[in-house]
Amino acid sequence: MSSAPELGLSVAVGSELYLDAAATTPPLPAVLDAMQSIQQRAWANPSSLHGYGLLAAEALERARFAIATLLTAAPDDLIVTSGATESIHLALLGSAAVLPAGRLVISSVEHPAVNAAAQRLVGLGWELEFWPVDAQGVIRLDQLKRLIAPPTQLVSLIWGQSEVGALQPLLPIAHACRQRGIRFHTDATQLIPQGRVNWADLPVDLLSFSAHKFQGPRGVGFLLTRDGLPLRALQGGGGQEQGFRSGTEPVALVAGCAEAMGSLPPFDALNNRVPPGSCDWIRPCRDLLLERLLAIPGVRAVGPNSAARLPHHISLLIGTPDGRPLSGRAVVRELARTGVAASSGTACRSGTSTDSAVLGAMQVPSIWRQSGLRFSLGSWLSDADLGPVPQLLERAIHHVQNDS
Ligand SMILES: Cc1ncc(COP(=O)(O)O)c(C=O)c1O
Repeated sequence: MSSAPELGLSVAVGSELYLDAAATTPPLPAVLDAMQSIQQRAWANPSSLHGYGLLAAEALERARFAIATLLTAAPDDLIVTSGATESIHLALLGSAAVLPAGRLVISSVEHPAVNAAAQRLVGLGWELEFWPVDAQGVIRLDQLKRLIAPPTQLVSLIWGQSEVGALQPLLPIAHACRQRGIRFHTDATQLIPQGRVNWADLPVDLLSFSAHKFQGPRGVGFLLTRDGLPLRALQGGGGQEQGFRSGTEPVALVAGCAEAMGSLPPFDALNNRVPPGSCDWIRPCRDLLLERLLAIPGVRAVGPNSAARLPHHISLLIGTPDGRPLSGRAVVRELARTGVAASSGTACRSGTSTDSAVLGAMQVPSIWRQSGLRFSLGSWLSDADLGPVPQLLERAIHHVQNDS
C-alpha cells in the first residue's frame, strides 16, 4: 500500500478495495481516452461559427446523439447539466415556475438534492407532502389515491434509493400521474448505472442522472425531458441547450459520458422491477457477499431483499455481537484503515454524523440510525477481491467495539 505524503494525506491510498460505487465510480480507461482525444481536437466553444467551433459542435452533437440513442430518446430530449443535483433543481424549480402553485409530493427517502429543491418551492408557496415508505424503504402504494388527488401538481420520486438500495414501484405511480395530468420527475441517478432505460416507453416527464455514477466523468449530468414540455430555465446567458441551460457545454465531458453509457446494459423497466446490473456477475456476487456478511454476529441487513433492490448494493446495520449499535462512521474509518473503501450513509453526505433521515423514514429505532454501512460494487472488482471483506468487517467491528 503506498502513502501519499506529497499530498499531505495521512491515510494510505492507491490499493484500497473500492466498494463505494453509489458515491462515485472510477472512470473507465476508454472514457479517459475519449475525453482526452476530444479535449485535444474539439476544445473550442461549440457555439462558435468558425471551423474550430464547428468541430466542437459536431463532437458535442455526436455524443448527444449516442447518449440519446442508447436511451431511446431524441437528442433534443437531453439537457446537459453539471450533474444530477443541478438536473433535479431544473426539473423541480423549472417545472414549478410554469405550473399553478399546488402540492409537490416527494418520497420520504429522497437524496438531499431533492429535499433542498422542494424546500425552495415551499418558500414560493407550494405545499410539500412526503410519500411514506414501509420498513424496507419502499414507497407505500396504498397511499397512491390520496397523494395524487388535488392539489398535487408535481411528483418527484427517487427510483433507486442510494442509502438502502430500495427500487421504487415507479411505473404504476408515473402512469397514474400521467392519467391525471400531474407532472412526474424521477431521480434516476442510482438506477441508470445498473441499466439504461428506454425513455421512449416511460410514462415519466423528467428524469435526472449524473455520469460519474457509471464510470463516466464527474461534472456532467443530464435532465431528460419531453418535446414541448414547458420548463423555465434557472439561469440566463447564451441560450445553450435550447435555452434551458445557458453556459458553454463541456464537450469532452459529454463525450466521456457517451463512452461510459455505451458499456451499460439495457433495462426493460416495463417488464422488470430490478435492472440487470452494471455487469453480469454483479448480482450473484453481491448476494454471495451479503450472505457471508450476515453471518457476522451483530450485522443485519436493512432495506429490501434482492428482488426489490439495486443489484450492486448492500446496506447493513452494524452492532456488537450482543446487540448494541455501533457508529457506522467509525466502522467506515476502521475499514479504510484496513484497505476497504465503504460508506456509512448517503453518497454525498457521509461527512456528517447526524441520524439518517432515510432510516428514520423506515421507522428504524433512533439508536440504530447512525449504524448504517453501505457496500456498493462495480465492474472493477472480481470475486477474489471480495473474499476477504467479511473477515475485515468482523475485525473492524471488534476494533470499534473495543474503542467505544
Ligand atoms: C440518488 C442521488 N441523487 C442525486 C445525487 C446527486 O448527484 P451529483 O452529486 O452528481 O449531483 C446523488 C449522488 O450521490 C444520488 O445518489
